[in-house]
Amino acid sequence: MGPAKAAMQQQIDMSFGHTAEGEGLLKCLRDRPGVTLLFGATDTGKTTLIRNLAFSLASHAPTAVVDSDVGQSSVGPPACVGACVVKGELKSPAEAEMLHFVGDFSPQGHFLTLLSGLVRSLRWARDKGSVHILVDTTGFVTGGAALELKYHKVELTQPRHVILLERGKELRPLLNAFHSRQDMEIHRLSASEAASSISTEERRLYRQRSLSHYLEGANLFTMPLNLRIMVNPYSWQEDQYGLLHRLVGLLDSQGSTRAVGVVRDADVEKEMLAVVAPLASIEGVTHLRLGRVHKT
Ligand SMILES: Nc1ncnc2c1ncn2[C@@H]1O[C@H](COP(=O)(O)OP(=O)(O)O)[C@@H](O)[C@H]1O
Ligand SMILES: [Mg+2]
Repeated sequence: MGPAKAAMQQQIDMSFGHTAEGEGLLKCLRDRPGVTLLFGATDTGKTTLIRNLAFSLASHAPTAVVDSDVGQSSVGPPACVGACVVKGELKSPAEAEMLHFVGDFSPQGHFLTLLSGLVRSLRWARDKGSVHILVDTTGFVTGGAALELKYHKVELTQPRHVILLERGKELRPLLNAFHSRQDMEIHRLSASEAASSISTEERRLYRQRSLSHYLEGANLFTMPLNLRIMVNPYSWQEDQYGLLHRLVGLLDSQGSTRAVGVVRDADVEKEMLAVVAPLASIEGVTHLRLGRVHKT
């Protein structure tokens, strides 16, 4: 191992908190590859751990990261599930090779879109030949709705490993729901003392910066504004949020998200929508999913 790689290895071991714990986890994942789901409250170090595990596992076998955190996204822009194959160290945020537009910075009100994006992303990662698939999640872990979402993430993805990054007792309901399951290994880790909390304002800034970065060099396109091309027309008909600066998902005839765009102009009478999106052309874009949130 060269000096640069040795330094990186040490950094990774340290960031697991307890080296022995980290090494043990890594060995389990390496020996029994498959889908790994990581759950934990906000700022427990989930994304940092995923990044470090991804780096180590990728040197062993083809590895992908699926990021189902639609708020503090680590793969692709926010408001989406994003996925990428890991080649060395992941950037922050890493570029998504596969996107699934959800349309909000929070999972609430969008469980089905989020779950279908997760399933679609896993299929994509497997089709790419990934043996290890690491799934990052939001810190939304408290209460009945959060438990249902996490429960069904497990049901739909059938993980080989579930990592619980615990700070207190917040993951007990999830642990209770799965502790006797024979079809997965549950790894309980303590959240790193070094993990620091990020303020609401810092989170908002991160989201907007990440969106701006994603939209660098984007082009302006016009498209028809009518119900025929909307997969979620009710969100427009019952709209109270205004179309200007709204995020939209540009979908193709497979239902795949080609890109995320931002509404720059909308004329309901003329049925015209102007959208900026990082695409060379909108050929192949057949449908829109109107998001709930705006780019500010
Ligand atoms: N093991 C660690 N050592 C040092 N800093 C850490 C560690 N884990 C997380 N952090 C820092 O704590 C903050 C929150 O970590 P993050 O991985 O984004 O948490 P989460 O994804 O659970 O919200 C980040 O600023 C991150 O750099
Ligand atoms: Mg995170």
